[in-house]
Amino acid sequence: MNHEPVLVEAVLEGLAPGRAASVVDCTFGRGGHTGAILSRMGPTGRVVAIDRDPDAVRAGRRLRDPRLEVVHSRFDALRGICGERDLTGRVDGVLFDLGVSSPQLEDPARGFSIRARGPLDMRMDPGEGEPLGAWLARVSERELAGVIARFGEERHARRIAGAIVRARPLETTTDLAAVVERAALARDAPIHPATRTFQALRIHVNREIECLEAALPAAVDVLRPGGRLAVISFHSLEDRVAKRFLRTESREVPGPRGLPSMRRPRLRIVSDRVRPSPDEVAANPRCRSAVLRIAERLPECGL
Ligand SMILES: C[S@@+](CC[C@H](N)C(=O)[O-])C[C@H]1O[C@@H](n2cnc3c(N)ncnc32)[C@H](O)[C@@H]1O
Repeated sequence: MNHEPVLVEAVLEGLAPGRAASVVDCTFGRGGHTGAILSRMGPTGRVVAIDRDPDAVRAGRRLRDPRLEVVHSRFDALRGICGERDLTGRVDGVLFDLGVSSPQLEDPARGFSIRARGPLDMRMDPGEGEPLGAWLARVSERELAGVIARFGEERHARRIAGAIVRARPLETTTDLAAVVERAALARDAPIHPATRTFQALRIHVNREIECLEAALPAAVDVLRPGGRLAVISFHSLEDRVAKRFLRTESREVPGPRGLPSMRRPRLRIVSDRVRPSPDEVAANPRCRSAVLRIAERLPECGL
């Protein structure tokens, strides 16, 4: 199973990896972006690729490119990963291509699929944390509604949570999708009525927002001055996290009257909101909601 990388040209243009660059790909997946970045590098270039999914790591290690090291980890461990490799403050580019890969979505056994029957799991790393089914079996209706509302931005969260709780015990993804579909009352929408709920549950199971919030400051720490950070997100929630972070880090915090600035900006925004072209969306419909943001680390200036 393959994964078609999104916005590849824009990522290459934004990160502009030199022939001897050191780049960290925080979301290796099936290596689409890593491969494109390596193709721009010479023999002394280096990519440290991270993925929390052991299947992705296995696929990466099979590539046997001496310039590529694939690390099985969550990307919020970025500081430690770079520190152990003496890369802190020396990285030329950091990439996040958020969310799940096509092989994860399309393998029913991973439990992400709305349409293919599989276990209620949804963990990107099956060795970490609690599978969806175990959480669903014990969660209160109120907490479940909160997760569906917050991470799915689903208007019918309370009704859907009530329906799920009444339908317990649930065994498979398709059982869950059918319950949500009956409760969501959005059968005329262009997407499956359970899409937002499945997205919310996946984000919750994998602690996706917390990981991203912890990893973005770490990414700035590991970059060298002039190094670039690229973030591709696929829904408004994670894009909002990226947007707020980049805006905050690129703004000077003024000091009290007459005193110097409290905090100098650490980043300069290079591209605020790059979207795929209609041609790219036609060729790869999965990228229709992708948003790319790029920023550059500014030189330190003492306060
Ligand atoms: C959209 S795919 C990346 C695809 C990749 N850019 C490519 O071209 O093949 C996202 C990948 O990031 C991984 N991932 C998501 N969140 C992660 C996290 N917090 N830490 C490490 N890997 C993560 C997923 O397991 C998945 O393989």
